[in-house]
Amino acid sequence: MVIPIGDDIAYAAKLILEGKLVAFPTETVYGLGADSLNVNAVVKVFEVKQRPTFDPLIVHIHDLSQLDILWLKPFNKLALKLAQTFWPGPLTIVHPKSSQVHDIITSGLSNVAVRMPSNTVARRLLELTHHPIVAPSANKFGALTSTKAEHVTKQFNVLEVAYVLELQEDMQGIESTVVLIENNNCIILRDGAISQEEIENQVHIRVVRLNNCSDNFNNRPLDSPGLLKSHYAPKKPLYIITDLYSLNSLPVGSGVILHSKKDDNLCTNAVKILYTSTNFTYAEIAQNLFNVLHIMDDSPEVIQIFIEAVTEQGLGRAIMDRIKKAAFKYISQT
Ligand code: TXA
Ligand code: MG
Repeated sequence: MVIPIGDDIAYAAKLILEGKLVAFPTETVYGLGADSLNVNAVVKVFEVKQRPTFDPLIVHIHDLSQLDILWLKPFNKLALKLAQTFWPGPLTIVHPKSSQVHDIITSGLSNVAVRMPSNTVARRLLELTHHPIVAPSANKFGALTSTKAEHVTKQFNVLEVAYVLELQEDMQGIESTVVLIENNNCIILRDGAISQEEIENQVHIRVVRLNNCSDNFNNRPLDSPGLLKSHYAPKKPLYIITDLYSLNSLPVGSGVILHSKKDDNLCTNAVKILYTSTNFTYAEIAQNLFNVLHIMDDSPEVIQIFIEAVTEQGLGRAIMDRIKKAAFKYISQT
């Protein structure tokens, strides 16, 4: 039986409080939600996602008062300033945790990641449960992120996920930005829907970047265990195109993802061409990126996928981060 998809937020809240998992839309991507106060439900999230237990979960809140049971006091001043500036919105703040946060959520780390989503369905769900909700992206570990209800239902079964809440407003299409706050430093652990420049301009700080990634599970970075080099990956080989003229000689069965309409003489032997954007705006590219990758992955005539690169500035950094991780296994071959 396939997972039911619907708009009954009260039913979804009831399922969550019964310890079941519910996929719900946020302003970034689909989350796989569970009651953060129910250890068995949290364990189930790791199980159904096939996620290693060293990769901690983000806790989603409805209002600032819920920080009292999540963050260790006294709260860091910069963390509070960032929360007041960007919440509700796609900024995840990593801060020392209170003793009430179960170690399974944080993978034994002394910090917990928290964000307050702005999507109205997500907010209503959090309001009705009254409990903070843990929610990783609603995909199997390492696989393509879900930005539509059907991306969730094709990856999970009804024993794993009880219900999927319908999308009611546009998603930004790329996960939240994750920042670690230490004293007066804001360190970007994951580029995301809020750019480094936006943080710097709005809060008047210089953001620090971290470049530690691990190659495999045995080689774990300390600061953000989820920062693996290969992630967000389609099942088919994915290659990054930096020179558009290389599209003139594509191998048989090539699907091509471009970010704006190009010269019709380019990629004449592609079996499928998809565009993420009409005018090459980063917001539009981000919004459609995972969906076009899902479509290419599900198209039987496509054997391998080629995707155009973007410049790594502003939101382009998060877009290229996802593209590079999705193509990681094939990067050395391009
Ligand atoms: O937009 C989003 O952030 C989505 C929606 C559903 O909210 N969620 C999401 O969760 O992308 P997930 O689990 O796919 O990615 C969470 C990232 C991982 O890289 C994880 O390692 C990092 O956040 N993270 C979580 N807790 C952390 C902690 N205590 N310290 C450092 N990194 C943490
Ligand atoms: Mg994820």
